[in-house]
Amino acid sequence: MTPQQFIETKLKDIFKEEGLDGHLGSLKISDRPDLGDYQCNGALTGAKILSKNPRVLGDILAKKLKDAIPSLEIEIAGPGFINIKISTLDLGHYVNTQSFCQFSIPKQKVIIDYCGPNVAKPMHVGHLRSTIIGETLKRLCVFIGHDVIGDIHMGDWGTQMGMMIYELSLRHPDLPYFDQEFQGSYPKNSPVTLEDLQEIYPIISGKCKIDETIAEKARLATVELQQGRRGYRALWQHFVDISIQDMKEHLQKLGVEFDQWFGESRYQDQIPPLLDRLIKSKIAKTSEGALIIEVEEEADKAPVPPLLLQKKDGGFLYATTDLATVAERVNVFGAERIIYVVDGRQGLHFEQVFRAAKKIGLQAHYDFIGFGTMNGSDGKPFKTREGGVMRLGELIDMLISEALKRITDAGLGKDLSPATLQDIAQKIGIAAIKFADLQHDPVQNYQFDIEKFMKFEGKTGPYILYAGVRMRSMLQKIRESGLKEGPILPTLLPEERELVLSLTRFDDYVLRAYEKLSPHILCDYAFDLCQKFSRFYQVAYILNEKDKTLQGSRISITKKTLEVLENLTGLLGIDIPEKM
Ligand code: ARG
Repeated sequence: MTPQQFIETKLKDIFKEEGLDGHLGSLKISDRPDLGDYQCNGALTGAKILSKNPRVLGDILAKKLKDAIPSLEIEIAGPGFINIKISTLDLGHYVNTQSFCQFSIPKQKVIIDYCGPNVAKPMHVGHLRSTIIGETLKRLCVFIGHDVIGDIHMGDWGTQMGMMIYELSLRHPDLPYFDQEFQGSYPKNSPVTLEDLQEIYPIISGKCKIDETIAEKARLATVELQQGRRGYRALWQHFVDISIQDMKEHLQKLGVEFDQWFGESRYQDQIPPLLDRLIKSKIAKTSEGALIIEVEEEADKAPVPPLLLQKKDGGFLYATTDLATVAERVNVFGAERIIYVVDGRQGLHFEQVFRAAKKIGLQAHYDFIGFGTMNGSDGKPFKTREGGVMRLGELIDMLISEALKRITDAGLGKDLSPATLQDIAQKIGIAAIKFADLQHDPVQNYQFDIEKFMKFEGKTGPYILYAGVRMRSMLQKIRESGLKEGPILPTLLPEERELVLSLTRFDDYVLRAYEKLSPHILCDYAFDLCQKFSRFYQVAYILNEKDKTLQGSRISITKKTLEVLENLTGLLGIDIPEKM
C-alpha cells in the first residue's frame, strides 16, 4: 500500500463511522504543497449531508485520523479542507521497505485492438497514434497483472483489394493469376513490390471515384476474391505477405510487438453462421432488403442508427466483421474486456458495435479510446511538404535523422561507432514522438512540431531520456568508487523530501493511468519526477558527501528514482540510451 492508499483506507473508515459514504474520504495530491502533501475535501460534502458545520466535522475527522496514524500532521484549512502531511520518517520508511507495483486488481483477460493498418495501403500518421497509445495501454494492463492480447486487426479484406487486383489485371494481363484456366502453382514471389502497390492505390482509387464502370469492375473483383477465385486469392496472399513485412519493419523501430496478427479476412467464414443465429433468434431483422440490428436506446440524445450487417446485394460490411471479431474474442479467447484504440471519428461505429454485441449476449467490458488527429502547423491533419499523406516510414526516418543531427551538432557522437550512434538516434527520435503524443489526453488533437518534440529541456521525450542517462552514469560512478547505499534517512533536505514523496506515489499514478486509460498521467509523473531529481541533484552532494550515512541515503534515493523512471519509460515504450 502506498502512503496515500494507507491514509485513504483509514480515512474512509472514519467517514463511515460518522455515517457518511466512504468515498468522501478520498485524497488528492495537494494543490498547495506548502500546506500539505494530500488533501481531503470530503468534510464539506459530508457536512452538508449531516447538516453540520464543515469545520466542526473536519475537526472530528482530523482528530480520529490523528489517533489512527499519530505520525501525520493534519490541519483544517478554509471552510473545512483537511490538509495532511506525512512525516519524513514514514516516507523514508516506505521507500526503504515497500516494494512497488502492488496492485490488487482481479486479473482479467484483456484484448487490445490497435494499430489497424491496411494491407496494400501505406501506414500513416493515424496508425502511428493508435500504435503509440495502444502499446502503452497494453503495457499498462500487463503491468497491472492482466492477461493481455494485443491484436493488430489488419484491414485485409476491403474493396481496396478488388481495386488493386483489377488495376493489375490491366497492367499485367499475362500474369497467371488472371488466367481462369491456369491449373499450376503460382510463383512464390510477389509480381509487385509494396512500392508498386502504394503507387497504384491512389491511382485506381481515384479512377473508381469518377468512373462508375471501373468501380463496378473493382467491386466484381472483390466479390470474386471473397468467393475464393484461386488466382485472386494467390495474388491477395502476396499483398498480405509484403505488407506484413513492411508493417513489421516499422513496428520494430517503434518497439511494438503483437500477439495476434489477425486481419478482417479471418472472420469471413465466421460471419454466415453468426448471421444465421441472429436471424433465427430474431435479433437481426430485414429492413428494406438489408439485414440490421437495432441498437437505439431510450436515453439517446441523438439517434443511433441500426447496425448494418448485410447489404441488399449480400455483401458484408466493416461493422459485420467487427461484430464477428467481438464474438470470437469473447467466445473463443475468453476476453472480459476489449479496448479499441481507433481514430475518434469512428466513435459512432463502435458505439453501434458495442451495443449490438451486448444485445446478442457477448458480455464483456468495452472501451473505445477515440484519439484526435496529429495536425500540421496549419491546424489541419499532418501532411507532407507536397501536401500528400505523410507515410509512417517517412515520418520515422525524419525523426531519427533529426535526432542524429542534434547529437552530432552537440559534438556528442565523436567517440561512438556509427552503429551505436544510429541506435541512440533511433531511441531519441522515437521517444520524442511517443512522449509528444502520449502527454496529451488521447481525445485531443495536437500539433506536430519536431523542433519542440526534440528539445533536450522541457516536457519532452529527450529530456526524460537524458535524466535517465544521467542517473545511470551517476550510479555507474558510484559503483566504480565502491560507494554503498544505505537506508533513506529521516533528515531530508526539502528538495530531497519532495523527491522521496514523489517516489512513494508511483503505484498511485500507475493505478490512476490504468483506471482512466490515460497515458498522459504517466507522462506528467515522469516529467515531474525528473524535475524533482534535477533539483535534488543540484542541492544534495553525493559523491563528495563526507557523511557516509547521508551519502548512503542519497545513493538509495538515486537508485530508487532510476528504478521508478525505468518502470515509467518501460510503460511509455521508450528506451533510455547508453549515452546522450
Ligand atoms: N483499419 C482501420 C483503419 O485504418 C482501423 C481498424 C480498427 N479496428 C477495428 N477493429 N475496426 O481505419
